[in-house]
Amino acid sequence: MNRKVPFQTQGSTISRHPSRLPFESPLEWSEASGARLYCGAQSFVDWNQGLGAVGVLGHRYGEVVEAIEVALRRGGVAHLPHRDESEVAELLLETVPCLNPRDWTVRFAENGSDVTASAVRLARGITGKTKVIVFEGAYHGESASDWHLCAKPPALGVPEGYPRPITLPWNAPDLYSNLDFDEIAAVIFEVNIEDPTPGMVTWLNSIADRDDVFLIADEVVTGFRLARGGACEAFDIRPDLVCYGKALGNGLVPISALCGRREPMYRLNPSHPEGYVFMSYTYAGYLPGLAAARASLRSLQDATIFDFIDSVGRDLMESFDASAVQHGVVAKAVGQAERSRFVFANAGGFTGEELWRTFIRSMMERGIAMYVANFPTIFHDEALLERTRRAMSVSLSTLEQKTVKGKA
Ligand SMILES: Cc1ncc(COP(=O)(O)O)c(C=O)c1O
Repeated sequence: MNRKVPFQTQGSTISRHPSRLPFESPLEWSEASGARLYCGAQSFVDWNQGLGAVGVLGHRYGEVVEAIEVALRRGGVAHLPHRDESEVAELLLETVPCLNPRDWTVRFAENGSDVTASAVRLARGITGKTKVIVFEGAYHGESASDWHLCAKPPALGVPEGYPRPITLPWNAPDLYSNLDFDEIAAVIFEVNIEDPTPGMVTWLNSIADRDDVFLIADEVVTGFRLARGGACEAFDIRPDLVCYGKALGNGLVPISALCGRREPMYRLNPSHPEGYVFMSYTYAGYLPGLAAARASLRSLQDATIFDFIDSVGRDLMESFDASAVQHGVVAKAVGQAERSRFVFANAGGFTGEELWRTFIRSMMERGIAMYVANFPTIFHDEALLERTRRAMSVSLSTLEQKTVKGKA
């Protein structure tokens, strides 16, 4: 363990904590570029792209880097809003079809957790209700001082009696009939492993149609990835509030955004006559973040990008599935082409989790960096795919031998 930085700061992102990584002693990275991650002299094909913080444009995308450099030469923060802020907000609203530039507005922050927490607080503040619905398997960030959604079992430090969310199974609208909307302020969702069924989309949109409950779309991972307009565009969902993070700054500068119609969003104004909802971050509107968002959003205007990402992601999933069948390993690629993951069945006395860890370790030894999810970028070309396919074949063949031999 690095004694100067216990657990290497990565405890701040729970899935990067060393205890979660499938390596005895995790490597430290030194540089990243496109689809490549470098650990000193070692180079890896990087499918994880900083847990999806890096968008489909890949690590260190030239135009975003240049925009940040120019912005840094102008400054970072001031007590006034920067003149670029409303232009970046408008660009964001124009990029995503479900956000209508005529009557939607944007508030910028830094992390995904900032805006998911603010969205929930806004829904609670306006409705005067406290309960929040989340779905099994979803993650919406960390905000222990406000609401606490994700820890299983609940982590320490959250006061007793703090309102816990109501957790529902995803894609099961038939099971949602007994909800008491007199108590529910918001439904927050992300599209994770399973695409929403048509029935689920109808149910989500029916929540958005109610005027006593907020539908919050968490697009922190899916935004600018499943489609340019994220999951809401891909599945035709019309939320009340939308949260963006990660790819908005393309993994170079933290920036996040909360979007909603003017009327509820104006309740974030401290002088609102009916009372206001608190949202305040020193670095909200940080100029390099705004510059990164503008350059990223402009670079995503090229319509061919998303077809390419889709085809690379599909190829990766299909290649994994075919190789698993070939080697007799019961494993499957799940999720979307733009964000897939590999799941392994228990076999030969090993748990699926143990087999996954062995697979990830073996891929790393073969120069392919994979982790909890695969995020294709415009730099994952056929040559890198082919390297990945070959490494998958060898790694799955090793797993086959291991499971046939069985756990000693
Ligand atoms: C869907 C989703 N929402 C919110 C968050 C929180 O974002 P951040 O870690 O930037 O605070 C994450 C982080 O992984 C996420 O996956």
